[in-house]
Amino acid sequence: MEDRDVKKIVREGYGAIAGKGGSCCGPAEPCCCGASKADEISSQIGYSMEELKSVPEGANLGLGCGNPVALASLRKGETVVDLGSGPGLDSFLAANAVGEAGRIIGVDMTHEMLEKARENARKGGYGNVEFRLGEIENLPVADATADAIISNCVINLSPDKERVFREAFRILKPGGRLMVSDIVLEGELPQQVRESAAAYVGCVSGAVLREDYFRMIEEAGFENVEVESAEYPLKMMFDDDTAEAIMAGLDISQEEMARLERLVVSAKIKAVKPA
Ligand SMILES: C[S@@+](CC[C@H](N)C(=O)[O-])C[C@H]1O[C@@H](n2cnc3c(N)ncnc32)[C@H](O)[C@@H]1O
Repeated sequence: MEDRDVKKIVREGYGAIAGKGGSCCGPAEPCCCGASKADEISSQIGYSMEELKSVPEGANLGLGCGNPVALASLRKGETVVDLGSGPGLDSFLAANAVGEAGRIIGVDMTHEMLEKARENARKGGYGNVEFRLGEIENLPVADATADAIISNCVINLSPDKERVFREAFRILKPGGRLMVSDIVLEGELPQQVRESAAAYVGCVSGAVLREDYFRMIEEAGFENVEVESAEYPLKMMFDDDTAEAIMAGLDISQEEMARLERLVVSAKIKAVKPA
């Protein structure tokens, strides 16, 4: 797939998910879990119910694969950029952590997600959270702006991950932290999965090997790159209907699906821009 086509498919997929009001980092068509299902999934991937209750209703569509805010050890007054902010869950949690003296900038390329996030900010009275339309490969953020960058299950969707990490490096202040939850692979995916648009939107086929992900972060200039944890999340990320729909669409057997589940890992990754 050409990069342009990938972006179009991803944008359309997440536009549809925003319109439906729920999914599970899965393809737009089969999955539309409601608020309680989204909260159930999110509590399995690292959010506390208290956190989920502290954000405006509709900010959690169950699209993440970890909890980068928990990783970010944010301090009062910090500026945080959320790459691929979706409906805003992590941006609002980050806003709660940095307080009124802090500032959050969420960036997303999907209009429908942006509208949802902005409405959620209005509903929740978040005056210090701003959502900008833009691509994470060309961040609409000035150099050396952020103390921390968070991102949840987004960079795997980019066809140019090297560029995303270079952009992240550019907008961080010296000493700034990159804190990411994302999908990485422990081995090569079967060909029919690699070529599936549904599995791409579902955060699977755009993912790269864990060592390649690491290398790209280091090549962008980051240091102290480390993985805090890595889990096998497919069962958690997809509700059963979605997993079934992907399997049916791809024509893969239960055994292949079981192998796939072991290849696809949700990792929490930290790195620092040298001071
Ligand atoms: C799986 S969702 C995660 C949303 C959010 N981080 C969360 O956890 O709720 C991926 C989001 O990233 C956005 N996205 C994907 N690729 C992007 C890109 N290249 N530039 C900007 N946003 C992108 C999508 O529009 C979507 O809102």
